[in-house]
Amino acid sequence: MDQRTDQPSLTVIDNRTGKKYEIPIEDGTVRALDFRRIKVREDEFGMMLYDPAFTNTASCRSRITYIDGDKGILEYRGYPIEELAENSTYLETAYLLLNGELPHQGEFQDWVYQVTHHTFIHENVKNMIDSFRYDAHPMGILASTVAALSTFYPEAKNVMDPENRQRQAFRLIAKMPTLAAFSYRHSVGMPCVYPDNDLSYIGNFLNMMFRTTELKYTPDPVLEKALDVLFILHADHEQNCSTSAMRGVGSSHPDPYVSIAAATAALYGPLHGGANEAVLRMLRQIGNRQRVPEFVKNVKAGEGRLMGFGHRVYKSYDPRAKIIKRMADAVFEATGSNPLLEIALELERIALEEEYFVTRQLYPNVDFYSGLIYQAMGFPVDMFPVLFAIARTVGWLAQWEEMLRDPEQKIARPRQIYLGESKRAWVPRDKRVRA
Ligand code: CMC
Repeated sequence: MDQRTDQPSLTVIDNRTGKKYEIPIEDGTVRALDFRRIKVREDEFGMMLYDPAFTNTASCRSRITYIDGDKGILEYRGYPIEELAENSTYLETAYLLLNGELPHQGEFQDWVYQVTHHTFIHENVKNMIDSFRYDAHPMGILASTVAALSTFYPEAKNVMDPENRQRQAFRLIAKMPTLAAFSYRHSVGMPCVYPDNDLSYIGNFLNMMFRTTELKYTPDPVLEKALDVLFILHADHEQNCSTSAMRGVGSSHPDPYVSIAAATAALYGPLHGGANEAVLRMLRQIGNRQRVPEFVKNVKAGEGRLMGFGHRVYKSYDPRAKIIKRMADAVFEATGSNPLLEIALELERIALEEEYFVTRQLYPNVDFYSGLIYQAMGFPVDMFPVLFAIARTVGWLAQWEEMLRDPEQKIARPRQIYLGESKRAWVPRDKRVRA
């Protein structure tokens, strides 16, 4: 406690100078900038904090998503993820994330109407999708086309206008499934299916993905519900890599389409949203149950990772993985079992008994079982990260909105510790020698 102010504080003694500093503690956190006062000489820059990959640095104050990684707790705006998955819909959860409260009946109807009536994309965007190679990864197409939407809505640049932001949010939540489905149809050489506004958000997406010759597509209610729950589970996850990309890019105030494109790109990587795709490839590579022990042995020896295991924040079972595992039974009953499930269950069983995984607190994460369900539903592996991106769009938007409203936020600009050459003279090319 700082005796003068009665505020909780940290006393720091700089052993280089013997000087003592009181650093205020607020919400269990100290401000990095307070350390700048610590210096040996007055003309020095001052002390910085070094935290590669931001493993222990809070970059914002947020009221959106709460995670307790040790206890396996995930809440959106205070509501446990289990209750939302059980009782809510994805669109209702999206409203909650963006607006802070669950909607009343009238608010919900208006919200669904707005999202439903922004699902179409300009034909030029469709033409753009057609110009990609037949085997283009749909995640690459999605990142490119969502960035291209920026050129269709130039007013979206006005990011300090809340109404304008809301309009772009409707568009983005509504159009991401259309871009995703059109990308898929392109990759399989099938004509695009235009949105059907009579269907639910998820039902319409399934329609745009899978409708063939039927006049009216009727989604299987079990699969529609399962995908809705999967979207709820993926809707936000506080300051992960893609959300940090959204906030970081958004902090220079471009329109949200290009910021969402950056977040989509961040999500594409196999350590983030690409992990469920990597899980499926890994299970296929293992091939059968008998080969699981050998695979685990190789992982322990440092040859590759057990994809779908481990998490920066969760040091116990990911609560989303628990919900998905329970839901898998209902889906497999409707679709027939996925032969890779047997391998996944065996992998989990063995890994959870192995000291390597136990001591490192590596448990199944959201991606371990989600891919098996997506595959059983008929989604190709390439589409898995795309599904994640559709669901996460609202989380990115909610975090972006919060950042823009936060008076403490500025353009993101981390510091570095420079370890390169000190100032040296330029030498003509014919005089350069390398030691
Ligand atoms: N398989 C084997 N070893 C692992 C794994 C894994 N999946 N994950 C971490 N480790 C080991 C790692 O080698 C290290 O061991 P050591 O201390 O001996 O060097 C230790 O565990 C700590 O790993 P880390 O890389 O420092 O942990 P991190 O917090 O930086 O990484 C992670 C988190 C999710 C990137 C990592 O666990 C991982 O690569 N998992 C596989 C990919 C995956 O499933 N990603 C999806 C994450 S959930 C969806 C999302 O939010 O995007």
